[in-house]
Formats: sequence, C-alpha cells, structure tokens
Amino acid sequence: MDNPRTIVQQFDLVTTRSQMTLGVMASGHLVCLYLGPRLASRVSFKNLLTDLNHASYLADTDGVRNFRLEQLPLAYPTFGNPDLREPALVVADETGSRITDLRFDHLETYPHKPAITGLPSARWDEQTRTWAFVLKDEQLHLQVTLVISADEDHDVFSQHVIYTNQGSHGLTIERAFSFNWDFLSDQYQMLNLTGAWSRENHLQWTPLKQGFQGVDSKRGASGHGQNPFIALAAPGTTWDHGQVIGVNLVYSGNFIAQANVDMHQNTRLQIGINPFNFSWQLNAHRTFKTPEATIVIAEHGLNELSARYQRFYQDNLMRSAIAKTPRPVVINNWEATYFNFNKQSLLTLAKKAKQVGAEMFVLDDGWFGQRNNDTSSLGDWVPNTKKLGGSLTALIKEINQLGLRFGLWVEPEMVSPNSDLYRRHPNWIVADEKHQPQLTRSQYVLDMSRSDVQDYLIYTLDTLLTENNIEYLKWDMNRNITDAYTQTVPPRRQGEFEHRYMLGLYRVLKALVTKHPRLLIEGCAGGGGRFDAGMLAYCSAIWTSDDTDAIARLPIQEGTGLLYPAAAMSAHVSAVPNEQIGRKTPLTTRGIVAEQGCLGYELDLTKLTAAELAAIQAQIASYKKLRWILQFGQLIRLPVADPGNQWAWLKKTADQIIVDRVTVLVQPNTVEKRQRLTGLPANALYFEQQTQRTYAADFLMQVGLPVDRPTGDFFSQRWILSRV
Ligand code: DGJ
Repeated sequence: MDNPRTIVQQFDLVTTRSQMTLGVMASGHLVCLYLGPRLASRVSFKNLLTDLNHASYLADTDGVRNFRLEQLPLAYPTFGNPDLREPALVVADETGSRITDLRFDHLETYPHKPAITGLPSARWDEQTRTWAFVLKDEQLHLQVTLVISADEDHDVFSQHVIYTNQGSHGLTIERAFSFNWDFLSDQYQMLNLTGAWSRENHLQWTPLKQGFQGVDSKRGASGHGQNPFIALAAPGTTWDHGQVIGVNLVYSGNFIAQANVDMHQNTRLQIGINPFNFSWQLNAHRTFKTPEATIVIAEHGLNELSARYQRFYQDNLMRSAIAKTPRPVVINNWEATYFNFNKQSLLTLAKKAKQVGAEMFVLDDGWFGQRNNDTSSLGDWVPNTKKLGGSLTALIKEINQLGLRFGLWVEPEMVSPNSDLYRRHPNWIVADEKHQPQLTRSQYVLDMSRSDVQDYLIYTLDTLLTENNIEYLKWDMNRNITDAYTQTVPPRRQGEFEHRYMLGLYRVLKALVTKHPRLLIEGCAGGGGRFDAGMLAYCSAIWTSDDTDAIARLPIQEGTGLLYPAAAMSAHVSAVPNEQIGRKTPLTTRGIVAEQGCLGYELDLTKLTAAELAAIQAQIASYKKLRWILQFGQLIRLPVADPGNQWAWLKKTADQIIVDRVTVLVQPNTVEKRQRLTGLPANALYFEQQTQRTYAADFLMQVGLPVDRPTGDFFSQRWILSRV
C-alpha cells in the first residue's frame, strides 16, 4: 500500500488571486493543502504530508504505525478517531456513540452555487464555481458534503456543509461547523472584532499561543461584544502590508470563531454555530445545512481584505434591489424626543429637517399602543392615534407633503407583559414551564421558532406596510435571549431552539422583503448588537452603535467597515454634548465621521440656532453632491503618524477621491506630518480643490497632502480630489 499520507487526488480551487487546495490522502481522508495567494503555476502537493516528521505519543491510524491523523491538516475533523483535537462535526447515533470516520467518496462540481434553504447566503454570478466534496461514514450511513464556492471575480470563497442521514435511524448532530481549516504553522496574529454595547467591533489583535483562542456568542444574537469573524494574519500585518485570511459567518445567532494551536505548532481555524446549547435531530433521510462562511485571502493587508469583503457583500449578499440604491439622508427623532412627542412636535421637527435638506423622516420608538416609556406595548403594532393626533396614515401623508419620505421603528421579536398581544398569547414568549422568565428592559422575547408567531409578524408588518406609505423600517432588538426554551419541540430537541429562532427570524424578513422589494430596512440591536452578514442579507443598513459620539465612533466604524459596506453603516450626527458620553465635538467632525457610513441626523433641530441650521444645511448639500462616492466608493484606511490620536481614510471611485482626517487631541508645538494616501492608480494625476493644486498619484502616496494645524481638539479636515 502507498504511504497513507500520499496525496492521491488534488483539487485546486482558484479565484483570480486566491487559491484553496484540498487533497485526498491514500487513506481516504480529505485534507487541507494550501490556502493563500494564487500560485503562479499548478504545483503538486503529492508529498506535502509524507514529508512531515511524525510527532511522538499520538495515536496511529488504520493500524499503520506512525500514521498520525492528529498531525495532519484535516478538512473536516470529527470525533472518535486518532485526531484528538477539536472536531468540526460531532454526531451521535442511536446507541449514543459519537465515533465518526469520514472518508472522501466523490466530488461534484457545478457552474453555480446552490442556495441554502432557510438561511441567508451570498448569490452567485457567472464567475462562481462550486465544488461539493462528498464524504461518508458508511457505518453511520451519514453523508457530509462540503460545498465550497469560488467567486473568481470577487476573490471570495464560501463554504457550507450539508449532512444527509442516509440510514433508517435518527442521528443527533451536536456540533456543526461551517468551515474548518488546518494550517501546519502557528506563526499568525489573530484578529477579532470585539467590544460591548456602545463600543462595538474594535479591532483586537492577539498573537497565537498554544491552546484555545477566539470569540463566541451564547446570547441568541451575534452580539455587541464579538462579531462572527476571525482572521489569521502574518505577524506585523497592517492596513497595507501582510498576508491575512479572514473568515466571516453569514449568521446572526450563537456562533463560535476560534483558533486552536496544538502541541505541534499547527493551527486549526474554525467557525460555525456555537455548539454550546446546540443539537439537531437528523431523522432518517433528512438533511441539515449549516450557515455559510465566507473566506477572503488578502496578500497586502487589511485594506485589501476589506475591499474584497465590502464589494462581495455589496454585489452578492445584500438585496440586489437596494444594494446600490443611494441611501437617503435620514432624520430620526429618537435622540430629539425619545418617547416624548406628539403630532405637532413631530411635524415641527420634520419641517426643520426638510429645511436643512433631510430626505427620510424616521419615527422611532413610542408611536404604538400605550407606549410612553419602555415598559409597555411591544407587540401591539397599532398606532397611538392620540399621540399621533390622528391616524398613522394621516401623519405620513403630512410628512410626505412636506417633501419627506417616511420610515418607522419596530421591534417585532419582542413583547411587553403589559400588552394586548401578551394578554392574548402569554405562551408565545421564550420561557420554560417552571421558571419565571427574566424581564429585560421590561420585555420578553417572542419565540421566533413558532410558525404562529412568524405568521402573526408577517401579517402584522405586511399590513402596516401595505396600508401606509412606509418606505423604511428600523428593525430593532433590545435584549438578548435568556430562558432559552421552546414549547414547540420535545425535550430531547431543545438544543434546536436557538437555531430555529434564527430560521424563524430569517423567514419573516424574507417574506417581507419579497412582498416589498424596495423597502429599506435598517437593522438594529441596541446599536450594533446584531451587525452581521446574516442581517445584511435583508437590511439596507444597520445602526452601527448607540454611541453617536463622533470620536467614540472612530474605532467602532473602523472595525465594522473592515467587513461590511460603508453604505450599510448607519451613522448619525447627534447633539453636543453627546448624549452617551458628554463630549463636545465640532459639527464638521461629527459630519465627516458620520459620512464614513451612511449619513443621518438624530438631534432636536428645533433647538439649534439659525447659524447651526445653516451649517447643517451646507453639510447635507455638500454630502448630496458627494453621495455616490461617499456611499459606494472604496473605503481605504490611511497611515498616520500618531495612531489612535489621528485617524485618516479615503473613499475612492475611478475619477474622484475624498480624503478625511480627524485629530482627536491637539498636541502643543508639534508639526503635523503630511497625509500620505494609499491605493491610487500609479500614473494618475489629481486636482485638489482646497489648495487648487495638481498632484501625481505617486507623490500623494510617497509624500502626501499638506495638513492644517489643528485649531482645537476633535479637529477634522477633508480634501476632495478629482482625476485629471
Ligand atoms: C435602541 C436603538 O439602538 C435606539 O436607536 C432606539 O431606537 C431605541 N432602541 C428605541 O427604543
């Protein structure tokens, strides 16, 4: 027999610039051979694994001495075999055994990409090809298919996994990862996006060490504290240098994204549904599909990774009907009025908003039931005609007559105990039969896994949207899931609840956008508590954070914009002192930071002076002229001399560049260095409006633009350059 580690079949999956190579060993195991920049020519990996020296005290495989699976880079590891590291799949049969032994059976290829029923996933285009690696455990009658698609043009791979029970007995899936990659090295820095409410998605770099590292959510949502993302980068990687491999999960619920460095300096990278509190009953002849993971390989730092993710999500994940629709300038009444409004105050705010140039009036929390604070009425999506001075339809008409479009806030997944809905259906909430469920912000969570709850929400929201000229829905979710239990499945299937919740949520969202294809949906979960690729598949934008302070937003938007398109990051100019942290920043800086995402306003315009209103009017007018490039231009982070205190970025289309720079604290007697740009076409010439000078692109990249001396803290500067 051949050395069982010999590669007997090799599969090169390529995009224009990236390559993923898998292979089958003589033993039949599917292995990871290469993940990185596309190799210039086809090379054979036949002996990659036979070249490895074997480590001691590991289990042998298939009775072959020194054939040690635990040292080898497995594409989809399972439990109960000689690889005693972290599995990607755990499945129990009817005897309780979890021993699983997957061997390669065959490969299928498609010139497209199959959809994942019930879950959001990226669309395919003519450039997409799919390889389905079919693995089998003959004893379990289990078929496991790794479905890997390569989008050649976008340089993105995606993977999901399908389990098919081909036997006549039930199987229980206890772990179902979407992606696993084994690297024969530990020389990486790990990057995650972490934080908390009000400071979401900060970049967090950690050098890998032996053992476990990563992030996970057990909250029933992806959460404020961690994004479903993990990247491994070469040490010293910056925005412009270094190889980095990013993996993002198209999912909004409990997840895990982890890297495990084993005893022999190998790294196992994994992402998927969090196995914590998860299991799935896979009956005979049934299938289960994992969420999709997207994999991006960048050769030249985070800007390249970011450009690929942003373009791919914009083109192939977000709804095509709205992805490239210019986002309107929103005025949202939340920080202007909170719950305290009536028809008159709303119309007064709307008039001012129209005067300064806003385009979409979004009526936030408090318009329905008896809701004058956060203690009642969630679930009763019936307009409060007393507060609105008549019907919602009439209010919308008046807002429309002012020349503004209309948007409405809802929090569909929730119910207040003090609501008609709860009184009618107390059993619709997430709770078990013994414990008093926890109230948070005076609300319970509706059991979205129930089809009657889903149907109620589809009907109620569709009716609201059909009867009223609502062009924008802000879809909020203001608490996480405690008391995770559903009354709809038997005891041994309770591990399915949190995934079923997500399937229910996606079903409702899909039904609404199918019926209302032009509807703009702004996702929100107390800010960025569910800012993920799953929600992005339905939303035109997501409220990036409840922290509206421009300076606090800098690291939040840096991390969020690493993956998600700028046009999808809702960002509002709010009042000073800032409501969340009391900081006073100049209006120009608030505008420049908000324009990094999609600009809106969230303050009481009626309290501003004529000069302040004029400044906002000028800000919006200038934004409208630059809207296309600001919303859809490529976002590139720029190098600065004093990182953390200085922040600079540009947005670029083929013929224009906007460069923005913020200095947080002014330093005494320092000489500002020039602002260098990156990512410009080498031989281009640009005319810069402010200085009326023409610059060569290589001068801008090597020497840079002259910078003004800050006149105070929170100083910002903008340059607008046109290609000549
Ligand atoms: C939390 C959101 O993040 C806010 O913008 C606002 O909509 C409130 N909820 C309303 O309750």
